[in-house]
Parts: sequence; C-alpha cells; structure tokens
Amino acid sequence: MDLNGKTAIVTGASRGIGFKVAARLAKEGVSVVIAARDQETLNKAVEDIKAQSASGVKVIGVATDVAKLSDLENLYNVAKKEFGHLDILVNNAGVSSQYPFEKQPIDDLERLVMTNYLGYVRLIRLAINDMIQRKQGAIINMVSGSTLCDPVPRGFVTYSSIKVGLKSFLKGLFWEMRDHGIKITSILPGVVDTDLTGKLQDITSEEKERLMSADTVVDMVMFALSVPQNACPLELAVINQKTPWTRPVIDFKQQQAK
Ligand SMILES: NC(=O)c1ccc[n+]([C@@H]2O[C@H](COP(=O)([O-])OP(=O)(O)OC[C@H]3O[C@@H](n4cnc5c(N)ncnc54)[C@H](OP(=O)(O)O)[C@@H]3O)[C@@H](O)[C@H]2O)c1
Repeated sequence: MDLNGKTAIVTGASRGIGFKVAARLAKEGVSVVIAARDQETLNKAVEDIKAQSASGVKVIGVATDVAKLSDLENLYNVAKKEFGHLDILVNNAGVSSQYPFEKQPIDDLERLVMTNYLGYVRLIRLAINDMIQRKQGAIINMVSGSTLCDPVPRGFVTYSSIKVGLKSFLKGLFWEMRDHGIKITSILPGVVDTDLTGKLQDITSEEKERLMSADTVVDMVMFALSVPQNACPLELAVINQKTPWTRPVIDFKQQQAK
C-alpha cells in the first residue's frame, strides 16, 4: 500500500505503542484520527504527532472510551466526516491487569472484556461495511504474544484468554474478509516497554532491559501495510529473546489502571 494520502483511525494512541504507530503513519503521509480517554494526554499527542507529520496530513484527536458503543460510533463518524472514507483501522487500545483469579475484582473482568475484546470487534463492525463497499481496507489489531502460551500465563488468565478469543475472532474474520479485498492482521507483541508494563512492580533492572521498544512493534505494523495487495500477513509475532514471562510466576503489586 502506498501510504501517502491514506486515512486511518488508531485507538489507544495517546501514548505507548498506539502513539508510535500513529506518529509513524502520519510521517508517511497518512491522515489519522487518534483516540484515547484522557483528553489532556490526547491533545498533547495530537500536537506531538502533528510536529512530526508529513505536509498536508490531518491529525485529529477524538476523546473515546472504546468500551462504550456510543463513543465508538462517534469516533467512526468523525473519521468518515473528516476523511470521507477509512483506509486503515489500527485497533490498539487495551488495558492489562494481573491477579490470582480469586483476587481479581469482579468489575475488572468486565473492563477487560469491554476494552480488549468488544472495543475491537465493535469498531471493526462499524467500519467493515464501507470497506466492503470499497473492496479495500486494512485492519491491524494489537493482540498479544501471551496468546502463544498454552496454558496462558498464570496471573494473566483473564487478560490473555480474552486476547486468545480476540485472536480467534480475527483469524476467522480474515478468511471471511479476504474475499472482499480487506486485510485483517493480528500483531502479537512480546513484552514492550510502555506504561502498560511499567506497572510490573517486581521486574528487575536486568529484565527491564529485555523489554522491546514500541518501535519494534511499529515496524511490524508497517510491514503488514507494506505487503502487496494480493497477500496479507494473518498473524505477526515479535517476541523478546528472553522475558520476565519466562518465570513461572510473577509477583508484583497490582496498580489498578483507571
Ligand atoms: N506493552 C506490552 O508489553 C504489550 C504486549 C502485548 C500486547 N500489548 C497490547 O498493545 C496495546 C497497547 O498497549 P501499550 O503497552 O501501548 O499500553 P499503554 O502504554 O498503557 O497505552 C494504552 C493506550 O490505550 C488507551 N486506552 C486504554 N483504555 C482505553 C479505553 N477504554 N478507550 C480508549 N483508549 C484506551 C490509553 O489512553 P487512556 O488511558 O487515556 O484511555 C493509551 O493511549 C494493548 O492492546 C495491549 O494489550 C501490549
């Protein structure tokens, strides 16, 4: 895909992997609508991305909670109104938590499902018919390298099993959508140095050094978008050579994400 002049939505783009993805797309000439909940961080991200973007690129921030259907509808409508159509959807917004299951707060289950599963599936559902009509579109989804573990890692049973379900949904959708010319890709990152993993309280400095940079994940996204129209990477895994996950049990104090 020649990215110059294309349009994209990137969710969870106020920081972390999503921010880096949106910034790289804008640098390549893609106009982006970026989404996250915290308005202040989002506004700053818009300014930072604008400062690095190619000329003529639009960068728009839309405060969105992907767990809310009405917010997703608004997000998609803004992108349609501003750009006319959507070429690329990057589903990335996600939250994580680690608990022994019996200690996991009951409402944390809903938070994880609504954000990490329904947040992705609903936004695809909102965008898919226009893409089908145009017979093109790329939908890139940030899943998780933890889905490669069977059983999923202890303490991450809810988070990882939801991502397994998401990966399964996306794999099935890949086969349905390829007939329409639409590409569905799952990215499976290992452990990346972001706020999400910054919550790992017990991580040693040696383990911290093993975390991969978000730029490595961005490269996977760019690879997925660079493949010729007649082919599509279904799943791209980029895993650390050695990670804290190789320990059988990780103990760290849970800091509840908002
Ligand atoms: N970091 C890793 O090691 C790793 C590994 C595998 C997979 N992943 C996946 O990669 C994705 C990005 O992770 P990250 O490490 O970049 O996380 P991060 O640094 O914590 O950033 C998360 C982004 O998502 C936004 N977000 C969170 N909940 C949201 C919601 N309900 N609605 C809208 N936006 C929301 C956050 O902004 P607000 O809080 O302001 O909403 C922020 O912009 C996630 O799906 C994660 O599961 C990460």
